[in-house]
Parts: sequence; C-alpha cells; structure tokens
Amino acid sequence: MRARILKLLRQQSQDYLSGEEISRQLAVSRTAVWKHIQELKNHGYEIEAHPRKGYRLKSRPDLLLPEEIRAGLATQLLGKQIVHFYDTSSTNNEAKRLAADDAVEGTIVVSEAQTLGRGRLNRGWFSPPGGGVWVSVILRPPFPPQEAPKCTLMAAVATVEAIREASGLNCGIKWPNDILWQGRKLVGILTEMSAEMDAINFVVLGIGINVSLQESDFPEELRNIGASVSMGAEREVSRVEVLQKLLERLEYWYQVVKQEGFEPVLEAWRRESVTLGQPVRVLAGEETYDGVAEELAEDGSLLVRTENGLRRVLAGDVSLRLQG
Ligand code: BTN
Repeated sequence: MRARILKLLRQQSQDYLSGEEISRQLAVSRTAVWKHIQELKNHGYEIEAHPRKGYRLKSRPDLLLPEEIRAGLATQLLGKQIVHFYDTSSTNNEAKRLAADDAVEGTIVVSEAQTLGRGRLNRGWFSPPGGGVWVSVILRPPFPPQEAPKCTLMAAVATVEAIREASGLNCGIKWPNDILWQGRKLVGILTEMSAEMDAINFVVLGIGINVSLQESDFPEELRNIGASVSMGAEREVSRVEVLQKLLERLEYWYQVVKQEGFEPVLEAWRRESVTLGQPVRVLAGEETYDGVAEELAEDGSLLVRTENGLRRVLAGDVSLRLQG
C-alpha cells in the first residue's frame, strides 16, 4: 500500500493530491492513508501536508528502498523480490541465508551499509552508508556446478555496461572480476554457491559498486587504489539508477546464457577487458610470475604467456605491470 501511495504522489509531484482522492483511488480509509504517509516520512520522504489541498511529494531520500528500485525497473525476474537493510553484516550472508530458505530466483538483497563486507581471498570490502551499491543477487542456474564461476564473468560484463549506461563512464574489467577506472578499483564481485555433485542449488552474486564515494571518504590504505563512479564521471550519479541498470543488464545476459551458453559473455568480456594483451604479474598461492595476458579461455581461466611457455591461471590475483 505504501508503494501505491508513493506512486500516486510521484505522478502528481508538482501538485497536491488530497487525502480523500488517495483513499478513493486505493479504496482505503483516510486514516490508513495518513498512517502510510507518516511511514514514508520516517523513511526520509519529504511530504508536505496542507490542511485543505492534501499531500505533495517534495523530495525522495537517497536510499535504495524497494519502492525506489522498482519504479521504472524493466526486468521480469531480477528484483521482483527486494530485501532492504539500512545496515547488515554482509548482503552475501543475508542472501545465502534467504536462498537456503527457498527464496525465489531473482531475489536481491541490498544494504545502505555493511559492517563486515566481504571480498575475495578473505579480504574485507569497504561499504560505508550511502557510498555505493552493495547488492547480492540470488540465481538458480540450470547448468552444472563447474559452470558457476562463469557467472562472475557475466556479472562483470553486466556491471561495466550498467555503469556506462547510468553515468557515461567508461571502465574496464581486470581478470577475473575487478572493474577499474584509470587503474583504480570501482567494483568488486564475490560469487558464492551451494551445489550438489551435478546441480546448483543457488548462486549468490555479490556486487559492490563504489558510486558516491569521494576521494577523502576512502581510508588511507585504499585512497590510491579505489575510486567511485561519481569521481570518474565528475558528477553525482544516482545509486538507484546504477542498480536498476545493473539488474537489467544482468537479466539480459542471464537470458542469453540460458539460451546460447557462455560464449557470447566471453566475447563481451574480452571486448571490455583491460587485462588482455597487457604485461601482468600473477600471484597464485605461494608463486609469483610475470608474463603477458594472452587470452581468456573457454572455462574463464586466463592464459598467460611466460618465458617458459603458456600458463593457465585458474585462481589468484593478477596485477597489471606498468611498462617503463
Ligand atoms: C572483491 O573485489 O574482493 C569482491 C568484493 C565484493 C563486495 C560485495 S558488496 C556486496 C556483497 N556483500 C559482500 O559482503 N561482498 C559483496
């Protein structure tokens, strides 16, 4: 009901809408309307109430509220169920809990802040309130567990496209799944899965996009490493819009993969890559070696040309080497 009242107020945002009109259109009492308006105010919506004219929506909060995300979202599957937190440990933790509890495919978990945001290789993920899009998407892909890592490549492609559409900023993918702008990290992706031997129960795609952070918001140790979409675009960028585009692009690629397999995703990934063709340093377990990133293989691994021949990187960290 709250969402429906909000929709009416949005449609009429230049003008007042009387409580009577709202209660007539939605077939609820005036008192119920009043209560929902108070709730909206508590969520940060600025709503003017005039004794004779009624209500007018003055401003909306900069929050990833389900009502905001759904307004104008062009997806069939992703984001049909939205779970929103002001604060949680990690959206991936919440999403895994919900998925194990039979949440429908396409459910997303968003939080304004994470207290224990998690990254790859047991690292943390800086997730202050309102600084970005911290989201986890639940998928139940009909393919075998070995294919799951490629979902990360799909998420990376979708995210680059979403950022481009929402802000005009051009960024690129560093293998396997970091998104960089001018060599600094804008996005991290953490994919987690629950599976049997031959079937996936669920995949959780955890995506962290730095959207509104400014240079000074980053802790000292991340200041030269991290960046945000609004820093790159040199303007404010709406987190809601970035998230909507992300869900739309992700849904598009998910449909493609289900119909045609991963090849089109791999092709798009190669196009958006900043790794291929570059001199790289590979950190795999205890071992470190240099080479040139030559190709993204069918299985999503990176083929690196070294002095001793071609090596396949399945997991680990790859950094771009500056040529001097
Ligand atoms: C990385 O680059 O190491 C991956 C970072 C992934 C961060 C996102 S934010 C939303 C989701 N919840 C988490 O705790 N992590 C992912």
